[in-house]
Amino acid sequence: MMRSNVRVSRIALPIAAAAVLAFSQTVTYREPFRPRFHFTPTVNWTNDPNGLVYHRGEWHLFYQFNPFGDVWGHMSWGHAVSADLYRWKHLPVALPEEGEVMAFSGSAVVDRRNTSDFGRDGEPAMVAIYTSRTPTDQTQSLAYSTDMGRSWSRYSGNPVLDHEDPAFRDPKVFWHEATGKWVMIVALAEQRKAALYSSPDLKSWTHLSDFGPEGAHPVRNWECPDLFELPVEGEPGQSRWVLQVDSGRGHPWLGSGCQYFIGEFDGRRFRNDNPPETALWLDWGRDFYAAQSFSNVPAEDGRRLVIGWISNWMYAREMPTSPWRGGQSVARELALRRFPEGLRVVQRPAREIETLREASISLRDLSVREANDRIRREGFRGDSLELVAVLDVGSADDLGLRVLQSDAQETVVGFTASPAEVYVDRSKSGNVDFHDTFAGRHSARLDAPDGRLQLHVLVDRSVVEVFAGKGRVAITDRVFPDPSSTGLSVFAKGGEARVVSLDAWQMRSAWE
Ligand code: FRU
Repeated sequence: MMRSNVRVSRIALPIAAAAVLAFSQTVTYREPFRPRFHFTPTVNWTNDPNGLVYHRGEWHLFYQFNPFGDVWGHMSWGHAVSADLYRWKHLPVALPEEGEVMAFSGSAVVDRRNTSDFGRDGEPAMVAIYTSRTPTDQTQSLAYSTDMGRSWSRYSGNPVLDHEDPAFRDPKVFWHEATGKWVMIVALAEQRKAALYSSPDLKSWTHLSDFGPEGAHPVRNWECPDLFELPVEGEPGQSRWVLQVDSGRGHPWLGSGCQYFIGEFDGRRFRNDNPPETALWLDWGRDFYAAQSFSNVPAEDGRRLVIGWISNWMYAREMPTSPWRGGQSVARELALRRFPEGLRVVQRPAREIETLREASISLRDLSVREANDRIRREGFRGDSLELVAVLDVGSADDLGLRVLQSDAQETVVGFTASPAEVYVDRSKSGNVDFHDTFAGRHSARLDAPDGRLQLHVLVDRSVVEVFAGKGRVAITDRVFPDPSSTGLSVFAKGGEARVVSLDAWQMRSAWE
C-alpha cells in the first residue's frame, strides 16, 4: 500500500529519508513490466532479501538496496513492512552504507529475552545481524531498533565476529531452544562452506562447526545460508533440518541458484542425511536466489516462510526495467514431503495471496478445445493472474498452459510425459534478447501420479512463479512481454488431454 504518484526530486535528501530519490520521476507502479503483487522498490536496484522478521503484526522486509542507482553499489538495507505479506509499505533506508563500508546481507531477530541488553523499558529490541563490507574485508555487525524497526542504532562494539578468510558474509541468526543460545550460520563464500557459531547475547560468538562443500559441484561460491527445522507433511511429530545455501556466479547451468540439504542439527553440527554429492534445488528456474526465511513467526502461525530475489547474477544488471531493477518473490510456505526418492522440500505461495483475487473463471472436466472456447467466450485474460489447474495427461506427450500470450509471444508452462518433466519456456516471452543467456527453457523432473498434473502458477507481468506437483517443483522465471500479451490458453500436443479443473483469477494490484 504505497502512495501512487510518488514525486521524487533531485534535491539531495539525507540518506535515511531517501528510500526514493536519485532523479526526478513519477512512480506509479504501472510502469512497463512492473509487477502488481511482487515487491519491487520504487526506484533503483535491489538484490537479496535481508532481515525478514515478524514483529507486532508487521512482516518486515529489508533488502539489499542501492540508494543512488539502478545497478549494484553502495549496498544498504532498504525497508518495507506489510500486514499481509503482499501489500508493502515503503519505509526509509534502515542501514545506509557508512563511508566505504557497505551493509551486505544478513538477518534480523526480535530479542524477546533481552539477551543483548539493547531492549528499552520492557520493549524488546529488533536486532539486525549483517555483514560490514570494506574493500578488503567482511565482518559481522549488529544494529538495533526499539521502535518497531523505524530507527536504527549501530552497536558500538562492532564488528562482533571476524574471520581470517575475508569472504565471510551473510549471517542468519536464530534462537535454538534446545541449547538456549543464538545460533548463526554464515558463509565462507570462496571455501563453499557454511560456518556455525553460537552466542548467549548476540555479541560474543563461539565457533561450533563448518559444513561443506557438499552438493552441487562445481559452483563458484556459497552465499546467504539459512538453517531451520521443517515438519514432515502428514507425519505428526516428524521433522528434519534444512540447510540452504545459494551458489552464485559461475555455476555452468543455473548462473545462480538456491540449493538445500536435509539432515539433523544437534545444536553444534549439521549432518546431511543424503550422500554428499546429492544436489537438491529449491527452485529450477533462473530467477530465484538468496532465499531467506522469516524469523520470529508466532507459534500459533507456525509457518516457515521464505522470500527470494527474483533475478540472476548472470544478467541482473541488464534487466530491462526502469526506474527500478530487481524484486522479491512472493512469500512461500515450506514443508517436507516424503517421496520414493526421499524427503524433499515442497512449497506454496503464502495463503494471504487470496485477498488479491478478483474476476475469475472456473472450468471443470473439459477437453482442451472446450476449455479454450470458454476462456475466449468469457474474455478471460490478464497479465497478473493466479492459476490453479489439474490436467489429465491422457495420451498427450506435451501439455500445459500458455500465459502472457499474443500472436507472436507466449510463456509456456508445460509438462512432457517422456521424460516426465515440468518446464517453463520463455524463448518467446517478449524482450528476451537483452542478454544472450536469457532466452530458454528450464525444466525439472516431475512425476504425474495417476496421469494427473497439478499446477499452481503466479503470473505477474514480468514474473512467473510455478509450483507444480502440489509444490514438489518450483520454477521462477522473469519474462518481458509486450503489454498486449495477456492471453491465456491450454494446450496439448501428440494426443488428447483433459482439463480436470482450472481456476484462474485476475489479481488486483497490491500497490493501490
Ligand atoms: C548474494 C550477495 C551476498 C552479499 C550481497 C551483496 O547475492 O552476493 O553474498 O551479501 O549479495 O549485495
